Amino acid sequence: MGAHRWGGMVVVGLIAAAGCDPPGKPRPGDDAVRPEQVLDFGKLYAQNCSGCHGADGRLGPAPPLNDPLFLVIVPDAELRRTVAEGRPGTPMPPFDQAKGGPLTAEQVRVLADGIKRRWHPATVSPAAVPAYAAASPATDGESSARGIVVFARACAGCHGDHGQGSDAGAIHDPAFLTLCSDQALRRYVITGRPDLGMPGFSPSFGRPAGFQPLSAQEVEDLSALLASWRKDGTGRSAAAAGTVARGGFPLP
Ligand code: HEC
Ligand code: HEC
Repeated sequence: MGAHRWGGMVVVGLIAAAGCDPPGKPRPGDDAVRPEQVLDFGKLYAQNCSGCHGADGRLGPAPPLNDPLFLVIVPDAELRRTVAEGRPGTPMPPFDQAKGGPLTAEQVRVLADGIKRRWHPATVSPAAVPAYAAASPATDGESSARGIVVFARACAGCHGDHGQGSDAGAIHDPAFLTLCSDQALRRYVITGRPDLGMPGFSPSFGRPAGFQPLSAQEVEDLSALLASWRKDGTGRSAAAAGTVARGGFPLP
């Protein structure tokens, strides 16, 4: 599923890129605003981010940025670092020129700092939500074993007993999981994908009233379980699956 959505994206992106505005070709009436002089969040976002994160920060193949719960938990420094440096090993590219990207440090700052201004955090105390960052790496075997129990309670109803897909798509899919960092998996467990109908960690964020909110430990255990699924399911190694999935992806 995730991998298929990315596949479609690539084709659309290439057609769009071929069809209009070759970089550097001034349009009539443009009066040559040089690309590095653009400091408007909306313009920068539309040119650099919307293809993956969606036109209004949602409904794209990449994690939504216009997500009230994400905006509560994500630290400002993490927004700046991710936009500047990207997430190596995932489709999220670096944007800072110093990291080989296309934008100036000033433009990276406008984008990173503009996200919370453009889209608004939920009115909930961060203390009431599992932390954005993991306390331990998502690879511990005991944690992923506990994750199976949590998965049955919180995820299997939509994704199937083993994440093979049911009402919602398959997530037990090394090709998809290999394109996601541990951080992104953890974030999906906490925030869900409300733009696509996936609930977050508690009844305030899309779960039914009787649902016991996921604890910090349960979030950790689920993230470890999903991370462990990168390595199995199809008989291919995670590294091989990654090569297949990334082949043809337009890494900048
Ligand atoms: C080619 C696709 C692509 C483009 C273009 C892109 N992103 Fe991303 N972005 C991703 C993916 C995929 C992830 C999730 C990476 C991971 O697995 O951690 C991501 C993650 C992020 C995150 C972290 C989200 C989280 O849950 O912690 C931020 C912030 C972000 N991108 C901002 C931007 C901004 C701002 C731009 C434009 C300057 C941009 N991205 C352009 C694909 C993209
Ligand atoms: C009420 C149904 C529902 C529940 C419960 C649910 N999901 Fe989802 N999930 C969805 C839907 C809908 C999507 C969107 C894509 C699709 O249809 O497969 C999705 C997408 C995802 C994705 C992929 C995100 C992407 O951008 O492609 C992951 C990972 C995921 N879910 C993990 C989980 C985990 C882990 C749990 C348990 C904590 C869970 N889901 C619980 C419905 C659900």
